[in-house]
Amino acid sequence: MSQAIPFVDLRTQYQQLEPQIRERINAVLDHGRYINGPEVDTLEAQLAEFAGVDHVVACSSGTDALLIPLMAWDIKPGDAVFTTPFTFIATAEVIALLGATPVFVDIDPVTFNMDPAALEQAIAKVQAEGRLTPKAVIPVDLFGLCADYTRLEPIAAKHDLVILEDAAQALGARLGDRGAGAFGHAAATSFYPAKPLGGYGDGGAVFTNDAALKKIFKSIREHGMGDHRYTNVRVGINGRLDSLQAAVLLVKLAAFPAELEGRNRVAAWYADKLKTVKTPVVPDGYYCSWAQYSVLSDDRDAMMAKLKAANIPSVIYYPLCLHLQPAFAQYGYSEGDFPNSEAASRTIFSLPMTPFLTEEQVSRVAEVLNQG
Ligand SMILES: Cc1ncc(COP(=O)(O)O)c(C=O)c1O
Repeated sequence: MSQAIPFVDLRTQYQQLEPQIRERINAVLDHGRYINGPEVDTLEAQLAEFAGVDHVVACSSGTDALLIPLMAWDIKPGDAVFTTPFTFIATAEVIALLGATPVFVDIDPVTFNMDPAALEQAIAKVQAEGRLTPKAVIPVDLFGLCADYTRLEPIAAKHDLVILEDAAQALGARLGDRGAGAFGHAAATSFYPAKPLGGYGDGGAVFTNDAALKKIFKSIREHGMGDHRYTNVRVGINGRLDSLQAAVLLVKLAAFPAELEGRNRVAAWYADKLKTVKTPVVPDGYYCSWAQYSVLSDDRDAMMAKLKAANIPSVIYYPLCLHLQPAFAQYGYSEGDFPNSEAASRTIFSLPMTPFLTEEQVSRVAEVLNQG
């Protein structure tokens, strides 16, 4: 059997960056400030520059990076927060955790991101029903492609809704002259190891241009701390990022621009070579960070079986839409409510995507899928 192709390749990256990573980790071991060490401040400053925003608050996961802004905005029972059902559970879970109601909005079938026209309809429906108060929108930059903020931002502004960009999969992506992390009133990203910029454990960050909001994010991250360490002015969480994770991420952030180029090189090879599946579309003006390379096929099971037989991994993101998840049964959705999301969940699968894949490896994947 031919050599396995990795789905995500943390090993090659580690081999390339090992001396710098060990040096950074050793520095933390030497100074011993495992919590709130200087690496965290440095990482926040570098991430702010990278994303083109004024403030970054590093935190313990992408999930907490979504939760913290919602807490800052006092999202609560009776509030409607709009998001898509074709995403990772965390996007809607944080809404439910605060007792607010996730209101799902179907995706565009081509980009897999929130359909702005469907958002307008969902807002109108909630307003007409009068049971919930529309408060916020969480568009997701799925698979590394920014959502359509050009159309989403005016809709949110018109209805006085705050936007929280879920950029967990999209750091490094761009839309026009703005990068992921810079859309909406705040944005969240994840440093889960398999993400385009991943650490060696859980981690995340919140982005904003609003200095007052940043202060609240920092307070919530640290048990609602006030100006004095043991004065608590609000209810918060333990949401800090470890100094060790920040140390690893500093090294990886420096290597990230070259890795993004690598991901785009691999994506271009796939697009060129794949003939029997529908390849992802990157609309004009967008730059994708390729958290996943996801293709569509009506013959998905057979395609994935062929890959497996050839020792090539593939994964389905996402096999069950959030409106059909047992955890969200209380919201009363049913099959057929979001046709584009449901169609994607039935036909989508993701292929190996790392910046280190060779053209020969991509050709091997394509040859297996292109066989009749
Ligand atoms: C779209 C999306 N939102 C949120 C998250 C949550 O991030 P984390 O796993 O770091 O909590 C993830 C990733 O896992 C994600 O893919």
